[in-house]
Amino acid sequence: MKKVVLAYSGGLDTSICIPLLKEHYGYDEVIAVIVDVGQPEEDLKEATERGEELSDLYKLIDAKAEFVQDYIFPLIKANGNYEGYVLGTAIARPLIAKKVVEVAKEEGADAVAHGCTGKGNDQLRFDAVFRTSDLEVIAPVRELSLTREEEKLYASEHGISFESEKRWSLDENIWGRSIEGSELEDPSFFPPEEIYKWTSSVANAPKEAAIMEIGFEYGIPVSLNGTEMDGISLIKKLNDVGGNHGIGRTDMIEDRVLGFKSREIYEHPAATILLEAHRDLEQLVLTRHELRFKDFVDRTWSELVYQGLVMDPLFEALNAFVDKTQERVNGTVHMKLEKGVARVIGRKSPNALYSKDVSFDVKQEQRGAEGFSLYHGFQSRILYSRK
Ligand code: ARG
Repeated sequence: MKKVVLAYSGGLDTSICIPLLKEHYGYDEVIAVIVDVGQPEEDLKEATERGEELSDLYKLIDAKAEFVQDYIFPLIKANGNYEGYVLGTAIARPLIAKKVVEVAKEEGADAVAHGCTGKGNDQLRFDAVFRTSDLEVIAPVRELSLTREEEKLYASEHGISFESEKRWSLDENIWGRSIEGSELEDPSFFPPEEIYKWTSSVANAPKEAAIMEIGFEYGIPVSLNGTEMDGISLIKKLNDVGGNHGIGRTDMIEDRVLGFKSREIYEHPAATILLEAHRDLEQLVLTRHELRFKDFVDRTWSELVYQGLVMDPLFEALNAFVDKTQERVNGTVHMKLEKGVARVIGRKSPNALYSKDVSFDVKQEQRGAEGFSLYHGFQSRILYSRK
């Protein structure tokens, strides 16, 4: 009995993988695993029906709490951002892959599989985690170089049908919504308004601004307007409120790991709000030296996540540094959400490095700065004196 565990999503790519793994690869048993990281309920329901019908064993794993705790929170602490992308899809892949490997071990499977094509980043992210196990890794769509048309034909031959054909390639979880493909592949194409599901257009956003207070402890958001909230509820709430105010839309050109550029659209209201607030609070409590150095750490952290290299020991080391800095990132940030913009309007922390003593209003001896000023720019002074 040859067994394989497939990272299943319910879409075309992963659905055709089930018969392919049997017919083409000769597996006797295909176990389909879908990992819930906050996909829309309807999608999970549809995926479950299809998965149960096609596979020999189907498992739905609710990983939302783990996703927020072990992936999103570290991302907030590290100000996760790659070229302006808040890493919504990227940050979820290692967790999905990890869960698939866990099932494979439990079930005594011989191999793990994913439905990614050979063009994107996701194949690399799944592979990197899969290959830390001793299981065989199979990527049928990539290995057989299937085109979209060939996939559709194979699906219909195997009685796999989809109610409505999706115009775009979508990926959604609690942190963000990623949209790519078809006409979007032309960078000059204007995306139609219907492409957006989480965010209102600026024109449709309410005139009245929303003001909110976000509380942070150790770099993690813990409360909203004074009420403590668990991460999942807080992020969902901010996605709703922020989306309504038109916050968190990105239309960008992105440098993929393989080197080519791609056009991407993202929606991420909560991410925009929380990352703005968190960065602002860090600016209040960390020294400028910490901030400069952390900037580089954050960028490196984000690149590793984008590339799917979270198993690199560097990643753990960077997290240790980030965690150390976050010990002082406690306090509250007031944000104003208005017509597509999330702006910090106030911040407060018991660990603020801000001192009133240097205020313009305090009468104080100012001559102490004279000596400093004399040597400030000393080297350029010498240079200019020679001219
Ligand atoms: N470009 C992004 C990334 O590599 C998002 C990919 C989204 N996938 C999708 N099927 N829409 O992380």
